Amino acid sequence: MAEKSSVVALLLAAGSGVRLKSPVPKAFVQLRGATLLQRSAKTLAESPSIDQIVVALPPDLTADHPLRASLPSGVTAVAGGPTRSQSVASALAAAAHSEVVLVHDAARPLLSVALVEAVLQALRLGDVDGAIAAVPLTDTLKLAAAAQDGGPPPPQSLPLVAATIPREGLFAVQTPQAFLRRALARALAQPPEVLAQATDDASLIEGIGGRVVLVPSFAGNIKITTEEDLKLASALLCALQRD
Ligand code: C5P
Repeated sequence: MAEKSSVVALLLAAGSGVRLKSPVPKAFVQLRGATLLQRSAKTLAESPSIDQIVVALPPDLTADHPLRASLPSGVTAVAGGPTRSQSVASALAAAAHSEVVLVHDAARPLLSVALVEAVLQALRLGDVDGAIAAVPLTDTLKLAAAAQDGGPPPPQSLPLVAATIPREGLFAVQTPQAFLRRALARALAQPPEVLAQATDDASLIEGIGGRVVLVPSFAGNIKITTEEDLKLASALLCALQRD
């Protein structure tokens, strides 16, 4: 079982934010007076189990870059990589010794201390390699057809439905994700083509036979991808009376 102390948080902030149409990298976009990175780092710093925060930054954000001035104090900054997994690997390489690491996307600025502690607690109590934040799906899921079915073309070239996917047992997965460090290191040693496909770190651990548990999260822990997400996050902060 992992010890309670000595958890390093790897905070991923090396994404570009192209879909947000922002002139600055996504993690440096403002949300009600603080950047996404500042908000995520603040919550991690307030979490009693977290001892160190290593932030993966866009590689072109060199030491003299003006945006560096907005970095939260006390964090260790490293250059991220061209893929998410490479950013995780860079941050892990700079992390102090710890049995447990917690990975979080800076693009999820609404995480809570309770959620951070819940995933860490699940990892500590279970005989598992990972514990990840997740919410059960509530929408009905449809698979879009890859090609037309030979029938009349749909209006405005909209995709046709090929199938309805039963949603029972399906979860939408978020960060934070907590891992035994040795399991994450093994997962990151997989071939580059495997790493490049991964949209989260748990999937890499699952891919080498690791055991991962789903920890109940809240739907408001949204990932900022579009301008609409930013407006939604702002409204949620207001409604939750969080500053
Ligand atoms: O692109 P997406 O929103 O899925 O990215 C999720 C998180 O991973 C973001 O916080 C982003 O900054 C980070 N990321 C990274 N390095 C990359 C790509 C994404 O740190 N090369």
